[in-house]
Formats: sequence, structure tokens, C-alpha cells
Amino acid sequence: MSDALWGGRFEASMDALVEKFNQSIDVDQTLFYEDIEGSIAHVTMLGDCNILSHDETKQIKEGLESLKLDHQNNALTFSSKYEDIHLNIEHLLTEKIGSVAGKLHTGRSRNDQVATDMHLYTVKKVKLMIEAITKLQNSIIHIAEDNIEVIIPGYTHLQRAQPILLSHHLMSYFWMLQRDKERLEESLSRINVSPLGSGALAGTTYPINQQQTAERLNFDHIYPNSIDAVSDRDYILETMNNINLIMMHLSRLSEEIIIWCSHEFNFITLSDAYSTGSSIMPQKKNPDMAELVRGKSGTVAGNYIGMLMTLKSLPLAYNKDLQEDKKSFFDSIETCLDSLTIYSGMIDTMQINKDTISKTLEQDFSNATELADYLVSFGIPFREAHAITGKLVAECIKENIYLKDVSLERYKAIHPEINDEIYIILAPKSAVERRTNYNGTSTQSVLAQIEQGKSKLN
Ligand code: ARG
Repeated sequence: MSDALWGGRFEASMDALVEKFNQSIDVDQTLFYEDIEGSIAHVTMLGDCNILSHDETKQIKEGLESLKLDHQNNALTFSSKYEDIHLNIEHLLTEKIGSVAGKLHTGRSRNDQVATDMHLYTVKKVKLMIEAITKLQNSIIHIAEDNIEVIIPGYTHLQRAQPILLSHHLMSYFWMLQRDKERLEESLSRINVSPLGSGALAGTTYPINQQQTAERLNFDHIYPNSIDAVSDRDYILETMNNINLIMMHLSRLSEEIIIWCSHEFNFITLSDAYSTGSSIMPQKKNPDMAELVRGKSGTVAGNYIGMLMTLKSLPLAYNKDLQEDKKSFFDSIETCLDSLTIYSGMIDTMQINKDTISKTLEQDFSNATELADYLVSFGIPFREAHAITGKLVAECIKENIYLKDVSLERYKAIHPEINDEIYIILAPKSAVERRTNYNGTSTQSVLAQIEQGKSKLN
């Protein structure tokens, strides 16, 4: 007979490479605490339902608690010989309390066990991601408030478009993250569901109390269908896609940070704590964290597709393919949590180079729309005003001057009623402050927006 825990019908033991290939302990030891909590809930219920005696229940519970302590003291060794976290724990429990440990698995299968662990793990991590997003949103609010007076050129096609408040620009990431957070919050109703008691797939003949285990593990409800309960990995895929969106948003922000840090832009300077140097070029200070986040957004997208491919053709119910649901999922979760945390530190510590930014605004045509709109105020149709302004911009480029350098005489030639006021209109500050609509870039609108943002954080 094989000496595996499931070895009853086996005559020979496992081939060495098969053992290595089959094991998942390398990865699923991450689920140690979830597995212990699930087992404590299960065995408590078995005792309360008189499926196990009071004494057996007590021994098993104490054994599990003591394994938890051993784990905290780094005193446990897992082995690929016992395949996965579930069988490793059962083996360690047997070593500790003897053969009564074998009663823990009464009315349970590894299929509902691993599903329970994964649900507990996902709930925990989703809540941590929600917290990490909130922290980053706070960092954005702070930098937006502290720099409310800073005007930057807004871009479309990475070409200077119109002046905007830096705070307005940064707050757009606040709202992306707000949507990400809401998606995570809404997903909890689908994640926080108990599969425990579903057995291998068909349920169980023991008189168990699934409400009790679900309540003890803080699940909101129980899967109505035991087959679905052990096969469902939608919530993993959904979480991975929610991570995709978070990482995609951080990747877009990364791209801007990287550009803003360049010598050519020099809009911001990152703190040394969030930068790295070069092994050959002594002058270098690189925005590696932003680049890594941008790079890792690709990795998590790949993880998502990998998971989708693993799931797409699986027949019901449990198949060993499902063991592949962990490595890339855990990786995506940790990447996302780290990225969010690094980003809030990076934003808290970055310096805004206000002088460079204000100088650069004097040397562009991002006020051209202001001129066109001004001409409209004299009754000139917008299309015509657009063409007149475009022509003037082309002339300025040839003469190497900007719209603010054009003489009043020359403006009067366009329309006689144009007066000195034109130079105020052309100033970036007026361009910003005149956009007082609900979601516009004026200081007044952006401050209201920031207040609205804060109300989301309470
Ligand atoms: N290690 C397995 C997994 O992660 C546990 C479930 C195994 N179930 C089974 N019938 N082989 O999916």
C-alpha cells in the first residue's frame, strides 16, 4: 500500500517527478491560517452536532490551535510528500495528537476545504486592497490641496492643449481609484460565500450545520448548490480583473510620473527613497518604482488571461486543473497591494517643481482656445475665430514669439474692439479660473471636487 493519506487503493508509491509535479505546498502554504480557521469552524460544528464526541472535538481543536502557535514560532516544516497545505496540516496534527486527528476530515472533502480557504483568503485581501486604495486616495487629496495654485499645461495627444490645475489632473486618478474601490466593495457579495459542507461535490450524509460554520467564518451566505460551490472560481477571476483595472490606472499614472521626472519636463522630483541609481552613470536618478508598476501591470494582465484559460473548458465539478488557481492569483494580489502602498509613499514625498512649471507655461500656445473664444465674444463665428487664431499661431511660430507677445495693434487689426483685456484673457491663470462649470478646472470647481472626494473617504 502507498503511504499517502489517500493511499488505501494504491499498491505502489508515487514516482518522484510525479510527487514534485503534483504538490502545491510550495504555493498554498500561504493558506495556512485560513485552513486552520476553516478546520476549527468545521470541527466545532462536528462536536455541536454530536458527530464527534466532546473529547475528540476538544483534542482536535487544541491540536489545531497549537499548530498555529508552532507556525508563529517558525517551528513547522512542510513537505511535498504531503502534497498540499491541507494534507500537511493533517499530517502535523496526527503527529501532535495521534489518530484522533483522522476524525477532522469527517463530512468534508479537500474540495470544499480548499474552496473555503480561498474564499477566506480573497475576502481578507480584497479588504486590504480597499484600505490601500483609500490610503492612496488620501495621498492624492493631500497633494492636490497643498498645490491648489499650481497650473500645468494639460495635454491631448501629448501635445499642449489647455492650461489646467495640477490638482485637477491628479484628482482624475482619485476618481479612477474610487471606481476601482467600488468594484472591489461590490464584489465582496460574491466572494464572501461559504462552500463548506459541500463535500467533494454532492453534499454530505452527516447531519452537519452549514449555517453554523458559515457564521463562524463570517460568510454572508452559503452556496445554494454544492457542485457550483466546489467548482466556482469566478470570484478569483473577477478579483484578478479588478486588479487589472487598478494596475492599469497606476500604469497610466506611472507613465506621467516618468515623463514628468525627465530632464525635458522636470515638473516633479521624486524622493530618493522612491528612486534608484545606475551602476555606471553616476548622475542617474531613475523612477524605477513607476516603471516597475507599469511593467507589472502587464504581468497581472497575463495572470488574468492564464486563469481564464485554465477555467474555460473545465467540466464540473472539481478538477486538479483548479490547483493552478493559486500561484498567479497570489502574485497579482501581492503586486497590487505593494504597488498601491508604494504609490502613496511616492506621492506623499514627491516634490512639485513650481518654478519650472510656471516658466514652461509662458512658452506655449495652450492659450489659443482663449483667443478664439475671445473673438467669438465680438460676434465672430467660432469656426472663423478658430481659423484666425490658427493663422496667428502659425505666424508666431515663424517669428519665434507667443500670443502674449503679439502687439495690441496687431490684435486690433483682427477686430477693432479688441483691447488690453486680451492679455489678461491669454494668461494661463484666467484660462483656468474661467472654467467654473461643475467639473471644470477653476480653483473653485476643483476645491468643490476635492470636498466631494473627501466625502467618499468617510
Ligand atoms: N491542492 C488541491 C487544490 O489546491 C486541493 C484539492 C484537492 N482535491 C482533490 N480531490 N485532489 O486544488
